[in-house]
Amino acid sequence: MSFGLLTVAYIIAGVLFILSLGGLSTQESAKRGNWYGILGMAIAIIATALSSQVTGYGILAASVLPAALIGAFVAARVAMTAMPQLVAMLHSFVGIAAVLVGFVSFIDPNANLTGAAKIIHEVEIYIGVFIGAITFTGSIVAFGKLQGVVRSKPLLLPGRHLMNILMMAAVIFFGWMFFAAPTMDQGILPLMIMTLIAFVLGIHLVMSIGGADMPVVVSMLNSYSGWAAAATGFMLSNDLLIVTGALVGSSGAILSYIMCKAMARSLMNVIFGGFGAAPAPGSASAKAAAPAGEVQSITVDETATVLKEARSVIIVPGYGMAVARAQHPIWEIANLLKQNGANVRFAIHPVAGRLPGHMNVLLAEANVPYDIVLEMDEINKDFPETDVVLIVGANDIVNPGALDDPASPIYGMPVLEVWKSKLTIVSKRSMAAGYAGVDNPLFYKENTKMLFGDAKVTVDNVLAQLRR
Ligand code: TAP
Repeated sequence: MSFGLLTVAYIIAGVLFILSLGGLSTQESAKRGNWYGILGMAIAIIATALSSQVTGYGILAASVLPAALIGAFVAARVAMTAMPQLVAMLHSFVGIAAVLVGFVSFIDPNANLTGAAKIIHEVEIYIGVFIGAITFTGSIVAFGKLQGVVRSKPLLLPGRHLMNILMMAAVIFFGWMFFAAPTMDQGILPLMIMTLIAFVLGIHLVMSIGGADMPVVVSMLNSYSGWAAAATGFMLSNDLLIVTGALVGSSGAILSYIMCKAMARSLMNVIFGGFGAAPAPGSASAKAAAPAGEVQSITVDETATVLKEARSVIIVPGYGMAVARAQHPIWEIANLLKQNGANVRFAIHPVAGRLPGHMNVLLAEANVPYDIVLEMDEINKDFPETDVVLIVGANDIVNPGALDDPASPIYGMPVLEVWKSKLTIVSKRSMAAGYAGVDNPLFYKENTKMLFGDAKVTVDNVLAQLRR
């Protein structure tokens, strides 16, 4: 393929990636966005394979084909709740690829660069290998914590910030040795030492963050993997890899920012692994005022009766709905109530569940129409005019303490103001806390009733009752 044609293919693929990101920003266009991404990636792979840089088709096929098959097999089998682990694992591949490409381009006998071009190339290699190495080990630790094979408690070594600073100082020192080295043989040692330090830094940074906070870390590592890919693009002089890496890097950073804002966290706190410094959500020291009032439970029959009578219903799904896989019967209940003349809508908190868009994906899987799925900002004002709010496996995202209890670890986090409705029914198994590990005063309010039991079982029973 000629250079001109390759450039055109890369521009088309780049535009398709941008359209893909745009499409993924709303539910209605998400499928189209996915197709743009698939098409863009297909064009990118085919154009690269046909470019003059690729000569060994046997080696290419031997690596790409098994990888594609393994990828398709794993992606088809992964459970929705295990998606963060899969993403973390995939980021580690981008990281190690950046490290390997960095070393290969440094020892490339055909490089023959001199002067400014040589310096720029070495800067690309050093930065690319550094980000890649941190991404590689950081992602493996994140995978381990999410999978439960690495202990999830934050590892808070004494003087850990000093250790990080010393490691960064060593990276700068070896960088100076690397750039000053007159020959490749003398440059390879500082590069290798820096890589080992970056491996340790990646492990340490992520180990010092609690397992429950891994989704934000995975989003940050997503951003790092993008910058590692962009650096690889510079090393290989591949414009599409630079553009794609920059898109992934910036969108990952924006997503992390949105997640932090929705949880009232600071992005800097995440990047520098400061989660263990203050009483973090889920930690034993996380305290909030003890809720006042009595817990009132409600039966399946009573729930069905109030739902039948309600003219306006808002359903709030949370992590428990994902665990119980109760989205299908929930949608059937919503459908029956709609047929009964009620105005039924779903309210989605930006960090409901454990990954961005978690609830939207589950509701889309159950074929819930997008126009009745509303974001928190769109629906919060409607709670006072709502007869019944049905909460399914949600906890922190409906905790009033986030608004009115400055002692609560989640104080400042915007929440769905469900308690303003006439009646709130909470479907969960017990009085146990959610992700943040704090009690929820909502459960003790006069207009709240607890529907205890596994969400799938209780929701199935309510549905059966409604059908009678
Ligand atoms: P949580 O606060 O974690 O509450 C989920 C509740 O579901 C639990 O209290 C649990 O109570 C219940 N549950 C679990 N399994 C159940 C089952 N089989 N049937 C019925 N109920 C079940 O979830 P949330 O309200 O969705 O809030 C999300 C939390 O995750 C927030 O604190 C958020 O900051 C955090 N987080 C989210 C993200 C993203 S991007 N979404 C990323 C990082 C952190 P029982 O044990 O009593 O049943």
